[in-house]
Amino acid sequence: MRYLCPYKFLECKAFSAIGLFFVVTIAIKLLKFIYVTFLRSPVNWEKYGLRSGGWVIVTGATDGIGKEFAKQFASKGFNIFLVSRSQTKLDDISKEIRNINQSISKAKTETREFSRLKAAISEVKSYILINNVGVANDLPRLFNEEKEEMIEKLIQINVTGTLEMTKAILPIFVAQKNGFILTVGSFAGEFPMPYLQTYGAAKAFLKMWSLSLNREVSKDGIHVELLNTSFVSTKMSKLKPSFMAPSAKEYVEHAMKKIGISSFTTPYWPHAIAYLVSISVPSCLRTMKRVMKMAAKEK
Ligand SMILES: NC(=O)c1ccc[n+]([C@@H]2O[C@H](COP(=O)([O-])OP(=O)(O)OC[C@H]3O[C@@H](n4cnc5c(N)ncnc54)[C@H](OP(=O)(O)O)[C@@H]3O)[C@@H](O)[C@H]2O)c1
Repeated sequence: MRYLCPYKFLECKAFSAIGLFFVVTIAIKLLKFIYVTFLRSPVNWEKYGLRSGGWVIVTGATDGIGKEFAKQFASKGFNIFLVSRSQTKLDDISKEIRNINQSISKAKTETREFSRLKAAISEVKSYILINNVGVANDLPRLFNEEKEEMIEKLIQINVTGTLEMTKAILPIFVAQKNGFILTVGSFAGEFPMPYLQTYGAAKAFLKMWSLSLNREVSKDGIHVELLNTSFVSTKMSKLKPSFMAPSAKEYVEHAMKKIGISSFTTPYWPHAIAYLVSISVPSCLRTMKRVMKMAAKEK
């Protein structure tokens, strides 16, 4: 009979326990992923003012993802408060929204002049803010070669604008003990982004800010969520619609079924799978081929 040293036996048990722990952890993560991505029921929008005159405030509402959020919330029956920079585009989308749901939807337009905007949003009964507005670099560029105005714009619109907008609405949500703040984030905030470093860092800021804010205000009945977005075919991405870059309409249709529950959501399932794979592989294997190619072309 072979003698098994008690020390070795314990070592063996310890390794098995560690192995089992990792297998169980991965299995739980995978099951959670399948449930959240494919099975979970959408939020009940009545909680946030549907059918009781609730308004949805959407920033960057005149194009792309923001415009789609405005239209799809309108077709659910919400009143829509549009925030963007171009008055003519705001007027056009207001008309479109009135056509979608004439009896319920109203559209108010405001430029981003904060004192006026603050006063205007305090006049409507709102429970939902969609912090969608965002800009990316006009082209991928080395930080050393990026224009100062572009760096300032990236921080001002992506970060400062979102913080100011949220600061304006949050006291109202806290007083109501109800509210939902969705911020449109990006895969660019998840991984190092050479050539788009400031955009990526701004989105990384928004992620941590959003997750932290959620912990601060969930006790007040407010839900704060980051929408983890990869390529969508819009003016910003300059991509044609494809499986991995859906149209804004298709993307928002997926988002409307998933938002309002978790603090971090990747609503379009091909993006969710890509995200799961990306975070599972070593960072040295993640290449930014498309961005690198664009940057090289620029040179
Ligand atoms: N598209 C993607 O692949 C992708 C991927 C990840 C994350 N995202 C994020 O998704 C969000 C929406 O992007 P999108 O692709 O829908 O972009 P988009 O089509 O370029 O639309 C951006 C919207 O923001 C408005 N806007 C831009 N600068 C503004 C300013 N200074 N003040 C006020 N409004 C301003 C635009 O107004 P105008 O109509 O006047 O131009 C437009 O309504 C952004 O936060 C972006 O970072 C997009």
